[in-house]
Amino acid sequence: MRDFNVVVLGAGGVGKSALTARFIRDVFIENYDPTIEEEYRRTLQVDGTLTSLEVLDTAGADQFNAINEMYIKNGRGFLLVFSLTQEASLREVEMLRQQIYRVKGGSAKVPIVVVGTKLDLVNEREVPRSTIQELAARWGLPFYETSAKRNWQISTPFEDLVRQMLSR
Ligand code: GTP
Ligand code: MG
Repeated sequence: MRDFNVVVLGAGGVGKSALTARFIRDVFIENYDPTIEEEYRRTLQVDGTLTSLEVLDTAGADQFNAINEMYIKNGRGFLLVFSLTQEASLREVEMLRQQIYRVKGGSAKVPIVVVGTKLDLVNEREVPRSTIQELAARWGLPFYETSAKRNWQISTPFEDLVRQMLSR
């Protein structure tokens, strides 16, 4: 069994905990209860390899927060999470992406996926698919649109991350 740790980063309220809870326990958390820090573990089989994944759900990230730096130093893979209903949260992802490369001192080798949440809130959507597809392509990062509420595309970003970690 391979052992990996991943860190879930992104602005406050974008749905990091809802995504994590759906992935770990297959439940949807309706209430907003800001996170301090929570650690979970589950196994995940990817391409025939059984992995034990430690998932660190963090507090709404603040780009100048020193604790982020510690998370990045200790993290192997990263889910950069923003809400499709909140344009500003996408800019936070850009900051985090830069901070990761700064702290890790390199680029191509760091396993990262970008996750847009709350896909079910169609009428509140602020970030067009074309915008994020262009950005993700420019960054060279895989991107997934998810809904923790509807259980859409929840495991896929974690599997992508594991694939990246297995191959690097
Ligand atoms: P912090 O811990 O403060 O950083 O917030 P967070 O990023 O963990 O956000 P959280 O998961 O607590 O979700 C915030 C609110 O958004 C909650 O009320 C969730 O129910 C809601 N939410 C999260 N994901 C979804 C989703 O996919 N669809 C809908 N409709 N609501 C969601
Ligand atoms: Mg949270």
